[in-house]
Amino acid sequence: MYNRVLHTRINEILHSGQIDIAGEDNMFFTRFIANATAIDALFHDIYGSNPESHEYFEKLISLLTRSYIGRPAELRQRDEEKEMKGNWFLSNEITGMSLYVDRFCGSIKNLQSKLDYFKKLGVNFLHLMPVFESPEGESDGGYAVSDFRKVDRRFGTFNDLRSLQQHMQQEGMYLMLDIVLNHTSHHHEWAQKAKGGDKKYQRYFYMYDDRRLPDEYDRTMPEIFPESSPGNFTYDPEMKKWVMTVFHRYQWDLNYTNPEVFLEMLDNILFYANFGVDILRIDAPAFIWKQLGTPCQNLPQAHTLLRLIKQCVQVAAPGMALLGEAIVAPKEIMKYFGTGLYTAKECDFAYNATHMALQWDALATADTRVMLAAQHEILQKPYGTSWITYTRCHDDIGLGYDDYMIKQAGFNPFEHRRFLKEYYSGNHSNTPAKGALFSVNPKTNDARISGSLASLCGLEKAIGAKDEVAIDYAIRRIILMQAHSFFIGGVPMIFYGDEAGYTNDYSYLNDPGKSYDNRWMHRPVIDWKKNANIDREDTVEQRIFSATQKLISLRRKIFAVGDYKNLTWMTPHNIHVAGYLRTFEEQKLYCLFNFLDKPSYLTWHAFKEHGAEPRILFDHWQQKEMHVGYDHEYLVIEPYQFLLLEVK
Ligand code: GLC
Repeated sequence: MYNRVLHTRINEILHSGQIDIAGEDNMFFTRFIANATAIDALFHDIYGSNPESHEYFEKLISLLTRSYIGRPAELRQRDEEKEMKGNWFLSNEITGMSLYVDRFCGSIKNLQSKLDYFKKLGVNFLHLMPVFESPEGESDGGYAVSDFRKVDRRFGTFNDLRSLQQHMQQEGMYLMLDIVLNHTSHHHEWAQKAKGGDKKYQRYFYMYDDRRLPDEYDRTMPEIFPESSPGNFTYDPEMKKWVMTVFHRYQWDLNYTNPEVFLEMLDNILFYANFGVDILRIDAPAFIWKQLGTPCQNLPQAHTLLRLIKQCVQVAAPGMALLGEAIVAPKEIMKYFGTGLYTAKECDFAYNATHMALQWDALATADTRVMLAAQHEILQKPYGTSWITYTRCHDDIGLGYDDYMIKQAGFNPFEHRRFLKEYYSGNHSNTPAKGALFSVNPKTNDARISGSLASLCGLEKAIGAKDEVAIDYAIRRIILMQAHSFFIGGVPMIFYGDEAGYTNDYSYLNDPGKSYDNRWMHRPVIDWKKNANIDREDTVEQRIFSATQKLISLRRKIFAVGDYKNLTWMTPHNIHVAGYLRTFEEQKLYCLFNFLDKPSYLTWHAFKEHGAEPRILFDHWQQKEMHVGYDHEYLVIEPYQFLLLEVK
């Protein structure tokens, strides 16, 4: 909307910044004007009551201009290429891997020499787990950042990171880094100054002289790590104050009611953008706004802030997409894509955490009904946004889907979750899985699950028992899980090590900075001698690696796998089989997954419910054609088999 005062002011600022609005900077100017009213409204929605909101808003406008001026020419060029493609990140051509630099290969420099490994696998998008400075020892895997702009010595230097980014860019690869928005380490300069009594920096955090307000907050705030970090506040004896620490006691929550905090963090965001980040992973966005009497998660103001960030990035660095790491209830996850006027104008990506957990549900129960009951919710995702799809990541598996979904499938939610937790923590008489319970909350009986993809799929136990049949079944489960997440729509994100079947790594137990957090069991240290097995016929590593490789290359060949709101679930003719149809223009791909350890039978009628009846189907996985039979005949799907059937 036209806003004379606002637009005149922007013109003035751009003019003084030597921006050539009619010439080479015209697209920037156009983006600015197009987004200015929204930025103004969102900013004032949050900070309007601040007596200095006007000055802060001016600072915001200058920051955007400065960031644009500082954006390197090659990134501006890349922005344009991405814009010309439309929603570049919806394509079927992107496959990611998430990794800890040190545990994967020691350093950023070494990582550069691993680019061929990624190429061989087919991965063209890397998520580097936090590489910015964080304290040694307890750092929550780098999610306690003490300097947002300094690469931690453990990984290398900023120049190493720059060189990696440039090499990746030349190779046509994409990079994802984190912005840890919700908190800093207690070693961050701001926290240190606050500790030293500096009032300005004390206002960057939530801190209280006594327990009155902390107690009130605690009444309605859930605990994130009830075992290792109970409560939401930590006493700091230097300041004699209680500091809000929702995650660990060494992660201090930033106070976004203070516009200075917002501007500082936006500056960091744009710094990452100008460094060349393609997708920015916004860590824990659900937590960034706190309000007494609420759970302090998913609050409307958190969404306002994310929308504001999105519009600002759109102006200054339009090629950088945003991933909101909101691991929350299905209905809440959806809101991170934006709602109402801001539909598809908040985060470009979210993790499909619901579906990830539902895959584990289906694998344990051999029953796809809970998965199906959740789909009407998951399919609400707006066009133009996408999922990160995955089976495992560095975090635990939370069974956070809704009770009604479990009930709809005919199960008792409490018993059902108990079964899943016992199954994956290895406490069930008949389970192949070897994992552990994470963050057990004795007050609520809640718990999440730790364990690597391979161990949860039975590989660790099978290898231990030297049982070839069990090894074969474990590998089938692993590939089934990966295939399902690769084809469901979104950008698949492999967790490092899973491509070579890494089982749990228990070495974390000997490290006092990690032993309290069993998520480290599924964050392996890569042994490159073992990885050499990916080239040795019939090794476990080779079987898993080559299957993963094949899945990625198939994805790349089939346009219908791109995320264009082009997924339809098939009627569940058999509860053990998950089936969905992916379409793109004339292309139709039926993806079928048998979650049962025995053959499953699917009536051929299942293929005749979506427009013209197909006669011949080509299975991309087995590279073979099959004829669609009569309705009273069946397609037989082997134990844990999947099919990728394109209509011919
Ligand atoms: C995110 C990260 C998790 C971390 C938390 C706090 O959820 O994925 O590993 O513990 O944020 O930063």
